[in-house]
Amino acid sequence: MVPGSPVRPSGAGRSGVAVIATVIATVIAALAVPACGGGGGGTRVDETSSGRELFVALCARCHGRNGEGGVGPQLSDGRVLERFPDEADQIAFVRRGRGAMPAFGRQLGPRQIERVVRYTRTELQTRR
Ligand code: HEC
Repeated sequence: MVPGSPVRPSGAGRSGVAVIATVIATVIAALAVPACGGGGGGTRVDETSSGRELFVALCARCHGRNGEGGVGPQLSDGRVLERFPDEADQIAFVRRGRGAMPAFGRQLGPRQIERVVRYTRTELQTRR
């Protein structure tokens, strides 16, 4: 063989592709498992999401993770209870929205709205 000449073993094309495909398939299989683990701060919620999951996914970016306020007003420290002594009024508010506060009546079912509202009135009030 002449040193420096291009090496072209015949048939390398096909077997090379097969090896690469196997490597890619293995990598994808390895990555797919953790990638499907959910969580990771994603905003996917469904019928089974808890009030807390709904709050973190949909409300925390404006009201703060602990309801401390941000773009939206503070909800913690009893604020939301003062503002809405009646839970039904708060449910109606979240469903309809107001100004910069999005209406969640389309995105969430009544049970989900109830759950997230209850979370803000209970657990959220005890978080620091
Ligand atoms: C895009 C930002 C944003 C998101 C997301 C958001 N809010 Fe709000 N929220 C606001 C703003 C702004 C107000 C004030 C609206 C006003 O009074 O005109 C508000 C007001 C409220 C109020 C009334 C508070 C008060 O003292 O008047 C409640 C309760 C509330 N939001 C709950 C929620 C819940 C529950 C979610 C999630 C399902 C949520 N918000 C998601 C921005 C947001």
